[in-house]
Parts: sequence; C-alpha cells; structure tokens
Amino acid sequence: MALIELRNIFKSYFLHGKRIDVLRDVSLDIEQGELVSLIGPSGAGKSTFLHVVGTLDAPAAGTMRFEGRQVFDMNDAELAELRNRSIGFVFQSHFLLPEFTAVENVAMPALVRRADRTRAFRDARELLDRMGLGARAEHRPGELSGGESQRVALARALVLKPTLLLADEPTGNLDPATGEQIHALLREVNRDLGVTAIVVTHNEELARSMPRQLRMRDGSVRPAHPELHGAAGEGGARPTTDAPTLPDGPTPGGPPGTDDDGG
Ligand SMILES: Nc1ncnc2c1ncn2[C@@H]1O[C@H](COP(=O)(O)OP(=O)(O)OP(=O)(O)O)[C@@H](O)[C@H]1O
Ligand SMILES: [Mg+2]
Repeated sequence: MALIELRNIFKSYFLHGKRIDVLRDVSLDIEQGELVSLIGPSGAGKSTFLHVVGTLDAPAAGTMRFEGRQVFDMNDAELAELRNRSIGFVFQSHFLLPEFTAVENVAMPALVRRADRTRAFRDARELLDRMGLGARAEHRPGELSGGESQRVALARALVLKPTLLLADEPTGNLDPATGEQIHALLREVNRDLGVTAIVVTHNEELARSMPRQLRMRDGSVRPAHPELHGAAGEGGARPTTDAPTLPDGPTPGGPPGTDDDGG
C-alpha cells in the first residue's frame, strides 16, 4: 500500500463564467519515504495539486487514500485531524509569527495542540539544531535572514512529526545557494526522519537533486524525464522497474487555509 493513492482527480476553477480545468484525471502513487520534486510552468496547477494532496482543497472528482483511508469521505473534523497530525506545510513565504522567537514559532503547532510544553520546546530546539540554527533560537523573524526564516518554517512544519511534508516553492524567495541549502535539508530530513516529501520548485537543478521527479503539464502529473523511465512514461512512475502503470494522468497560525499544522 502506497502512502498516497490518488485516482482520477479532477479540479476546475470557475471565474467570471469561465472554467479553468487545472487537474485533469491525475492518478498517482506516492510511497512512504519518497522524496519527490514537482516542476511545471507557472499556472500549471502545482499549488492546486499540493492543496488537494494536503486536503486543504477538495477535488471535483476522484479519490485519495492516505495510509489506506479514503480522505474525501471524511468530515471536516476528521480532515483537520488528519492534516494536523500527519501533514506539514512549507510555503514560499515563511509565515512566521513576528512577535515570537524562532523556537516559539517552531514549538507553536505543538503548543496549540496543548502538547507538553517542555517536550514541545525540546523538540523545537532539536529541530532548530538540525537546521543549523541552534544559535538563532531566541531571534525573532525580523532578526533572521530569509534562508534562516525558511529553515525555521521547515522546523515548524516538522515539529509534530508529520508523515508527509508538502513544500510549495520553499526556495522561491531565496538566492540559489540558500535554495540549495534548503533542498539539502529536505533531503536530510527525508533520509533521517523518514518523512515523505513533495517539493514544488521552478529550479530544474534543485528538482533533479530529488530521487523522483514529476512534472505538471496540461493538467497531468507525469515523470519529469519520461525518457529515463521507458514505457513507464505514461504514469508518474518512479525510477524503479516495478512501478505500477497508472492511467493518464496552498490562516490562522500559518499560511492561508492551514489550521495549526505549522505550515
Ligand atoms: N481560486 C482560484 N480561482 C480561479 N482560478 C484559480 C484559483 N486558483 C488558481 N487558479 C488558476 O488555476 C491555475 C493553476 O493555479 P496554481 O496556483 O495551481 O498554479 P501553479 O502551477 O502553482 O503556478 P505558479 O508556479 O505560478 O505558482 C492558474 O491558471 C490559476 O490562475
Ligand atoms: Mg504555485
């Protein structure tokens, strides 16, 4: 069983009497522990896709299983619980709370959930250490660089130990070297903490540093380099030979639409 099983996902927006078909029959599996990059032109639907996978937005049609559970059958409370417990979000802007220190920002999702305070702060400090920010724990966002702020946001997204991390252009506001630093950290937390991650980026080089690379185009999600995958090019396959053949195929406490997930 894959961690995420998306089947025949459709999503359109209606604006001023016009329909924009953004996701057109997307079917895809993401295995536990995968690290996946997602590239594609602006407006292709990458954020829309992440919102659907992150249960922030419902599709018009299609199903998603998360750890085997049918997600879009859940009521709002169940969805919020799944999202808060299992999914971490990082966005292009860090959405840190300016009046709180780095360590307070990282601990916040745990504190909001009334987790043990001592443990929340211990976990937050551990994560900041991992991000190389041990010495910045008492800084407020205004006293951090852009790259540091984004690392704090990444630590915050991880403090509740999510199964899945969804990152929407986390390096979009950063210079290339700092962007690479963030991607190196993403690879590290994927490897060391086992968190499954989908990372949207416009940077082809950063995308290629991820073990599995997907591209959004014309409403579909496909392998970014189908020529490397042979016949598997038809279905968002990962670079293994036994990949299943699939059909054609972003506020309170944080960024828009998230609850206390720390995104
Ligand atoms: N709330 C909305 N109402 C109407 N149309 C929308 C809405 N949100 C997004 N769209 C449209 O859906 C399409 C996909 O948007 P989306 O934000 O998913 O693209 P994206 O791939 O993330 O682009 P970018 O790389 O610029 O972030 C775009 O054409 C956009 O204009
Ligand atoms: Mg986007």
